[in-house]
Formats: sequence, structure tokens, C-alpha cells
Amino acid sequence: MAKIKTYKIITFGCQMNERDSETIAGLLSEMGFRENPDRDSADILIINTCSVRENADSRFFGTLGQMKRVKNSRPDFIVGLCGCMMQQQHVVDAIKEKYPWVDIVFGTHNLHELPELITSVISEKRKRIEVIPCGEGIVEGLPSKRLHQFKAFVNIMYGCDNFCTYCIVPFTRGRERSRYPERILSEVRALAADGVKEITLLGQNVNSYKGADGAGFPELIRRLNGIEGIERIRFMTSHPKDLSDELIGAFSECGKLCRHIHLPVQSGSDSVLMRMNRNYTKADYMKLVGKLRESSPLISITTDIIVGFPGETDEDFEETLSLAREVEFDSAFTFLYSIRKGTPAERFGDQVPEGVKHERFNRLVGVLNGISLKKNKAYEGRVEKILVEGQSKTDKKTYSGRTDTFKLVNFKSTEVHSGESVDVRITGSGTFSLVGEADQ
Ligand code: 5AD
Ligand code: SF4
Repeated sequence: MAKIKTYKIITFGCQMNERDSETIAGLLSEMGFRENPDRDSADILIINTCSVRENADSRFFGTLGQMKRVKNSRPDFIVGLCGCMMQQQHVVDAIKEKYPWVDIVFGTHNLHELPELITSVISEKRKRIEVIPCGEGIVEGLPSKRLHQFKAFVNIMYGCDNFCTYCIVPFTRGRERSRYPERILSEVRALAADGVKEITLLGQNVNSYKGADGAGFPELIRRLNGIEGIERIRFMTSHPKDLSDELIGAFSECGKLCRHIHLPVQSGSDSVLMRMNRNYTKADYMKLVGKLRESSPLISITTDIIVGFPGETDEDFEETLSLAREVEFDSAFTFLYSIRKGTPAERFGDQVPEGVKHERFNRLVGVLNGISLKKNKAYEGRVEKILVEGQSKTDKKTYSGRTDTFKLVNFKSTEVHSGESVDVRITGSGTFSLVGEADQ
């Protein structure tokens, strides 16, 4: 009997990549491969790359370098690379030159070609580099092997048209295109039938979703809200310039829409925002925050902030600190600006020295952590509905899950199961999570 071949996928980057890796896993499973947690003994390794910041690049090259040893000892070992980095010609050129032992390179627009690429590598023993420069269509109906049993990512649109001056995504993921609403609805119905309780709608800018029948994003949420079995609806990411009153209203109107919005602000300085091509001001952002809290008083607001964008002065940075204090973000992802080849900001003068960037970064993180701690403390004494995600490995009586506001809660309980909703009394808080006890 032929030995069953195995695969391992390593994923860098955002939820879009995680979702793509689920599709890759689905395609490989259909081909008869079985998942293998150990990359060194798998028959095929796929590395799904991210190019949004420089540290993701370097982590990828580190991992790739280690694979040469495995390839030398097992020449039949297949190494495939995909994801955003592969959409950049200079990266593909570097792979060809420095890593000629890589077997397959494909991009974000042709995942569906993977089975054919693998077959030709195995049967014809030839290397395949197939990247489609910029995607326009959407390939539907691909299989998927989900990462989680009770929650699922659902793509509603692909690509981005915003061209923020620091960002590589519009070049690697192509122009905005929305899926047909009916396809999304039937995918979610099927997920509900399969036991999924929570869905996260994915898109680089979900607010500009436009269904072929004219349905916008709030209408899509209203339709999804009616699907039986689904208990929670989340989405990411929203661009402040497109956050409509209708969507803000959906937080009070649609019972399943979780009271959490990830609304990247990037900077609190109007002049930096302008040079980033963000198309809103600090005052516009504050107005949105006011409206969100009016529509849904307990909504949690999280964000992304870039420190050290070219030309950022001390005064600009103070504006970011003051915005963070005014908004009181529940939490934030903070990034040191990193130059991305081919983006407009690559050519901006006035790059901020590394030392200054780090000093500002540390100050910002200090302020943000203080705010997170204060926000989390306010949960103490409340009873929150938690969707159970897992059990602690070391203490079997401790479980974890999230509030609808996306707070991570570790709680004590008698036996509960993943996917169940339980009432938990919050008894303590930290910067990044809450602790509690299930109300028996
Ligand atoms: N440098 C630093 N951070 C970046 N991001 C995107 N591009 C860059 C860059 N060149 C951050 C933004 C975005 C998040 C996903 O990554 O904050 O919202
Ligand atoms: Fe990048 Fe801006 Fe598009 Fe977000 S909205 S993916 S930051 S270009």
C-alpha cells in the first residue's frame, strides 16, 4: 500500500492569510494529503507569506533558510511558497537566485492552481513558478479545512483600492472586488449547519463591500443576522473614511453583531494622516467614536497605530498620544513604520531615525497599556456571556473564551465544552485579559 503523503502549512500575517491557508489545506486534503504538525517530516511544506512589514519578511527568510537542510537530506521533500510576498517581482527574483531548490511559487490570485502545480512537480520533476500579477475575478467553490470548529472566517471581499502611502496591500492583493451576497449567505448557512456559532467577515475594507444586487455592508449584516445557529457576527477591517451611519446603526439594530469594532486610526496628527492618504482628520475620527458610543455605549474600540511615519515630528506624535487618551482604545496594535518597496512613502524624505521611533513606540505602548488596564478593570463584577473556546492544558477546571466585546476571559467552571455560551462573573482584570467564574 502506498504511504499516505503529509503536508504542513506555515502561515505568516493576517486573517486573510489564515483564511487562504484553510483553502490550501482543503485543496491538499482533497488530493489525499494528511496534515502533519512536524514540518521536518512532512512530504510537502507550504509557507504562506506576509509582506506588510519588514519583520514578517525576515522571519520568512529565516524559516526558508532552515528548510535547505531538510531538502538536502530528502530530495523528494516539496517546498511551496505563496502569499503576499510572492506577488512582488523582486522577491520572486531573489527566490530564484538564492533558493533555487524551492519547487513551487504561487501567488494570492491562483491558490486554485496548487493541485496542478504539485502534480507536475511530482510527475514531471520540474519546478513551477506561477504568479498571476493582479487578480480581478474571484474563484468560488474551493474546498476548505477550517482551523476552528465553532468559529469561522468568511471572506466577503478581496483587495484594496485605498493606496495608503505606506501600504503594500493594494499591490499584492489587487483591486477591490466583492463576493455575491447569495454566495456569502449560503456559505454561512452551511457553516451554521456544521456547528459554527461565530463568523468573522473579512475584507481589507469591509465598509466598501458592494454586492451585485446593490446590497451594501450593513444590508449584508442584516441578512446574516437572520441565519439560525449563528450567534455572533464580527468583521474586520473598517476604514474610518467609509464608516457609514447605517453601519454604526447596525450595532444597535442587529442583535448578533458583536459590540466591537477594529478601526485603524494609524496616527492622531492631521498632517501625517494627510501624507498617509487616509482621507480623514483626527476630528473626523473622534466624531465617529462619539457616534459609535452613542449607538452602542459599551462598544469596544480597537485600532492600529504606526509610529515613525516619514516626517513625523514630536508634535505629531503628541497628537497621537492625545488621541489615544481621548478615545480610550480597548487595545491597539502598534507598529514601527517600515519602508515597503514600491509604495509612495518609500520615496518620502525625512525618515525618522530608528532610536526616535523606538522611544516613541515605547511611550505609546505605555500609555495604551494603562488605558487597556483601566478599561478592563471596569468589567470587574459584571456578568458576561462567553463563547467557550478552549480548556487550559495545565488546569482542567479553567477555560477560556471571549466576550462579545472581544475581551479574552480565563474562567473557572465545572465541565463546559467549546462552542457553548456561558455566563461568567468577572472577578479580576489585567492589561490583556480578564479572569472570572462561571455563574452556576
Ligand atoms: N509599516 C508599519 N506598519 C504598517 N502597516 C501597514 N503597512 C505598514 C508599514 N509599511 C500596519 C497598519 C495596518 C496594519 C495591518 O499594518 O497599521 O493597519
Ligand atoms: Fe493598506 Fe490602507 Fe488598504 Fe488598509 S486601507 S489594506 S492600510 S492600503
